[in-house]
Amino acid sequence: MEKIIIDTDIGIDDAFAIRYGMLTQKILGITTVNGNVTADMATKNAKLFCKHYGLEAPVSKGASRGLVIEPSDPITDVHGSDGMGGCYENPFDADTKQNAVQFLIETFKAHPHEVTIVAIGPLTNLALAFNLCPEIIPLIKKLVIMGGAFGFNGHTGNMSNFAEFNIWKDPEAADQVMRANLETVIVPLDVTYEVLITGEEIAALHDKFLGDIAKVYLDFSLKDEGFYGMAMHDALTIEYLCHEESFKVIEKPVRVSLAGFTYGQTLIPLSKMPIPDDNFKDLPLKKICIGVNSKKVKEHILTTLKI
Ligand code: RIB
Ligand code: CA
Repeated sequence: MEKIIIDTDIGIDDAFAIRYGMLTQKILGITTVNGNVTADMATKNAKLFCKHYGLEAPVSKGASRGLVIEPSDPITDVHGSDGMGGCYENPFDADTKQNAVQFLIETFKAHPHEVTIVAIGPLTNLALAFNLCPEIIPLIKKLVIMGGAFGFNGHTGNMSNFAEFNIWKDPEAADQVMRANLETVIVPLDVTYEVLITGEEIAALHDKFLGDIAKVYLDFSLKDEGFYGMAMHDALTIEYLCHEESFKVIEKPVRVSLAGFTYGQTLIPLSKMPIPDDNFKDLPLKKICIGVNSKKVKEHILTTLKI
């Protein structure tokens, strides 16, 4: 069981991941970031989630926009008007005792080498924390990111042919985080799109909250992809903490395209030719999940989430 902070743009698959995280890890706090919804809405959603499940963890609001790119609209067609399926009244405000960057810095200083950060939204808060206080980087036990796409298993992007949403929302932040020197595991679309749960399997969890909020996502998926189900994008970060042996991993330096039609693409040097490339010179290696035992992972997620 790891001590974790979850950095999230809490939308629907984030909620599944946070539920999975509270059942298998020790959540020290939740930091919110602009992504599926605004940072304000993500903060309200995180508070609603904590109240519903009795999760005692501080919520700290983070960045309302990317480092450079103008914020794009919330993806209401996938996550609903409020990011949580638009089916629950949310009485909470978006104010928090401290902001996400302060919470991250304070927590890593207070618990050196003990805490893992699980990033399941755009990486803006992490880039800001690393820029403001680079001395916390060596204090972080591990960083697990849901993000990116490298083309394995045919998955190259979901916001463009080349870019995955969490990276695409703030490519400059992602590139800075990929260049930081800390143990990092990337859980990209290459594996998350290999673990799909159906609407029927969600109903069989008998978790009314997850079942209710998932409806809009399932309807969108049926209309858009002809599949009444959802990929366990964010939950697979938690699965890595539970069963890393279920993943096939390569280790490569990672950069992010910051221009042109590949803006937001995650890039690794794959050439068999030892071509020197200053873009990757002296960069730390990142663990990238390129394969997954989908059957085992799905079974573990469903068994754990089932009430
Ligand atoms: O591309 C999938 C990611 O984008 C997930 O984190 C999902 O919640 C959305 O934020
Ligand atoms: Ca997310």
